[in-house]
Amino acid sequence: MQDKTIDETKQGDSLVLENKKENTKKLFIESYGCAMNFSDSEIVASILNDQGFNTTQNLEEADLVLVNTCSIRDKAEQTVRKRLEKYNAVKRDHNPKMKVGVLGCMAERLKEKFLDEEKIVDMVVGPDAYKDLPNLLAEVEAGNDAVNVILSKDETYGDIAPVRLNTNGINALVSITRGCDNMCTFCVVPFTRGRERSRDPQSILGEINELALKGYKEITLLGQNVDSYVWYGGGLKKDFKNASEMEKATATSFSQLLAMVAEAQPGMRVRFSTSNPQDMTEDVFHVMAKYRNICNHVHLPFQSGSDRILKEMNRQHTADEYRALVKRMWEILPNCSISQDIIVGFPGETEQDHQDTLQLMEDIKFTFGYMYKYSERPGTMAARKFEDNIPEATKKRRLTEIVDAQRTHAAYRTQQFVGKTTEVLIEKESKKNPDQWSGRNEQSIGVVFPKGNYKIGDFVKVKIHDCTSATLIGTSTPLSNQEAID
Ligand code: SAH
Ligand code: F3S
Repeated sequence: MQDKTIDETKQGDSLVLENKKENTKKLFIESYGCAMNFSDSEIVASILNDQGFNTTQNLEEADLVLVNTCSIRDKAEQTVRKRLEKYNAVKRDHNPKMKVGVLGCMAERLKEKFLDEEKIVDMVVGPDAYKDLPNLLAEVEAGNDAVNVILSKDETYGDIAPVRLNTNGINALVSITRGCDNMCTFCVVPFTRGRERSRDPQSILGEINELALKGYKEITLLGQNVDSYVWYGGGLKKDFKNASEMEKATATSFSQLLAMVAEAQPGMRVRFSTSNPQDMTEDVFHVMAKYRNICNHVHLPFQSGSDRILKEMNRQHTADEYRALVKRMWEILPNCSISQDIIVGFPGETEQDHQDTLQLMEDIKFTFGYMYKYSERPGTMAARKFEDNIPEATKKRRLTEIVDAQRTHAAYRTQQFVGKTTEVLIEKESKKNPDQWSGRNEQSIGVVFPKGNYKIGDFVKVKIHDCTSATLIGTSTPLSNQEAID
């Protein structure tokens, strides 16, 4: 689910939505962290839209400021603290009536403590408590602080039609599971987002059909761990083992859901994120091979190439099992791209462990990836068991080496497209050149090309003549020569 997490400090994004005329109150909402947060903010905006709030991008006129927060690394939390300082200054100088609420993972992690630590905060709402926002707001409007950080056993938001925020009308996020049961020792997500539960396939299909009607062209199915999706009538994933024989026999798995989605909307591209090596099964690759509208890209974090470190991370796979999974993927899907997440400087990581990570990178040559220095998270198993003992300078150097290797591999991967034609979904104008469109091919590589007569949302065959390590540069085939794409 990495699209939004390259660097949380740069990803803060305030949101605008279609406003209702009768609404009189103003909401400023911004999100940090993973795609799930951005998706959740669309649910929050939808709930508040029914409570008389229209969105604004101007802090100075906001009645309510909400920040959807990320706890994954310390830096992400520091970014939010800085935003709170900013709200404080605006409240003091321009907007004394403004109320401030903190949503998401930091809210869940810090709970009531947030109210003491940050005086500006009036409301603390965890990721499963957004339906309670109308009540919490009433408390705040009555002059009280309000907190709800109760985690749920149900999928929670399946019945809310998200209001698409800051959208290009083309790409949409659709959440399919919430929470994570994997308990990687470094990770705060199981604590902040709770146990894993899946959403009713009918509600997922309903949302996707609705998006198709509105002209959306690509959906990304979202979950912390999409491969462990299972719908057996509702309830926690961990209770699936106690489900009745009937429920087990009629349960929907991730690969089945993927096939249902691909079949329901053959004209829409389908992506999914994030996959987990220990939960991903071969049937997903077969479904990807069967449906041309499922994009040939898998985001498959591996974290470390050292079996010893993987064990201490409580990852349920070895480096060789990861290699074998990728090998099988390429046997079934020869054109599939693969991206990674890596953590450097996990407690006790030796130079040899680091070399093992570089070796695994070299063996796979990922198309792109997201690389991080280990950041100790309070309350996690790693924080309790291990000392964060890799010096900052060493973490930094290892990160640089890994980022450099990734750049080389990315350049190798993009180079493979030069001279070939690739299908691109146009998403926006190129930032560097207003005469060019920017989009992605199904491998999720960015492509730019002259605009011609095309428009945002078109699928275009583009002949690639050049590349950088991250972008393919090409020319569109004339409209008349484009095959019709249903
Ligand atoms: N399964 C999730 C993972 C969320 S965290 C998903 O949907 O993507 C995203 C990435 O952040 C992880 O894969 C890991 O590489 C990194 N990460 C998680 N906890 C971290 C920590 N404590 N320090 C550094 N990086 C971390
Ligand atoms: Fe975190 Fe591991 Fe789940 S990285 S989100 S505990 S798969």
